[in-house]
Amino acid sequence: MKAKILVTRALFPEAIDRLNAAFEVDYNPEDRALPPAEIAARLAGKDGAITLLSDRIDAQTLAGAAGLKAVCNVAVGYNNYDLAAITAAGVMATNTPGVLDDTTADTAWALLLASARRIVAADRWVRNGQWQGWKFHDGWFGQDVHHATLGILGMGRIGRAVARRAGGFAMRVIYHNRQHLHPDQETECAATWVDKATLLRESDFLVLMLPYSPATHHAIGAAELAAMKPTAHLINVARGGIVDDGALIAALAERRIAGAGLDVFENEPALDPRFADLDNVVLTPHIGSSSRATRLAMAMCAIDNLVAALDGRRPPNLLNPQMLAA
Ligand code: DGY
Repeated sequence: MKAKILVTRALFPEAIDRLNAAFEVDYNPEDRALPPAEIAARLAGKDGAITLLSDRIDAQTLAGAAGLKAVCNVAVGYNNYDLAAITAAGVMATNTPGVLDDTTADTAWALLLASARRIVAADRWVRNGQWQGWKFHDGWFGQDVHHATLGILGMGRIGRAVARRAGGFAMRVIYHNRQHLHPDQETECAATWVDKATLLRESDFLVLMLPYSPATHHAIGAAELAAMKPTAHLINVARGGIVDDGALIAALAERRIAGAGLDVFENEPALDPRFADLDNVVLTPHIGSSSRATRLAMAMCAIDNLVAALDGRRPPNLLNPQMLAA
C-alpha cells in the first residue's frame, strides 16, 4: 500500500508526477495557502507532507496527525515551522538548502545594483515621459559599486555566494557571523570577519543573509540604521522581521541611509504603504529563489527528503536529527 501524503499548494507537474508514482497524494493544485484548520484536517491520516513557506506547521496543525512521519518544506528558511512542536509530535522536518544559493545571491545583487544606480526610479521617469534630453548633471548620480565595501550579515551558503560575486566588482568584503568561517572559506570568498559595529560603520552595501528567529528579530533597527553611513544601501533577501520596517522607512525618508533593496517585509504580503511613497527603495515580492529551474530543484529536493523519510532512511536535509535517536 502506498504511503499517504499531503501537498499543500501548487507545485510543478513533473514534481506531482513523481509524487503520484510513489505515494497516494492529496494535492491542493491551487497556488493559494490553505487555512491552518484545513491543513490540520487534511494532515489527519497522512504519513508525510510537502509544505510551502506560507504554511504554518505547529502543535495545532499537527494535533490530529498521529501517524505523520515527516513534513518537508520547499524552502531553505523554515520559520513557518515550530520545530520544537514538530519534534515533540515525533515528526521529522526538512528544508531545501543548497539548491537556491546562487539564484538568491543573484537576486541580492540585482537589488544592490538597482538601489545603487537608482534603476527602478530612472525607469519610471523615462516611462513617464519626463526625460527631456541627455545632461551631464542629469540628477541621476548613483553610488559606485565597484571598489566599495560590501558587508554581509549572516555568512551561510547564500552569504558566501553573495561574497564570491563581489570579486568582479573589485570590492572589499567584510562579514559578521556568530562563527568565523573556516580560513579556507574566507580565502575563497575573499571576506574578512568583523564585529557587528564595524560591519554597520564600514559597509557601503549591507546585505542581510540571516535566518529569521526570535534571536534575529529586528537585528536591524533604529540604532543599527543610525550606525550606518548616510551613503549606505541596505539589501534584504532573507526574511521580513529581521529589519524593523518602521525604523527603516524613517531612515530612508530622512535620507539617513541612501537606499534599500527589499525582497522581504514584515507582515508579508501586506506592504507598509509608506514604502510606496519612497523613491529610494526598490521592492520585490519575495522572489529571491524564483527562477523556474531553482523552484523545480527546491521541489525535487523536498521530495528527496520525503521519499527518504518514508523509506526509513535519513532525509538528506533533516532539521531535527534528534528524531533519529528517538
Ligand atoms: C527560502 O527558501 O527560504 C526562500 O525564501 C523561498 O524562496
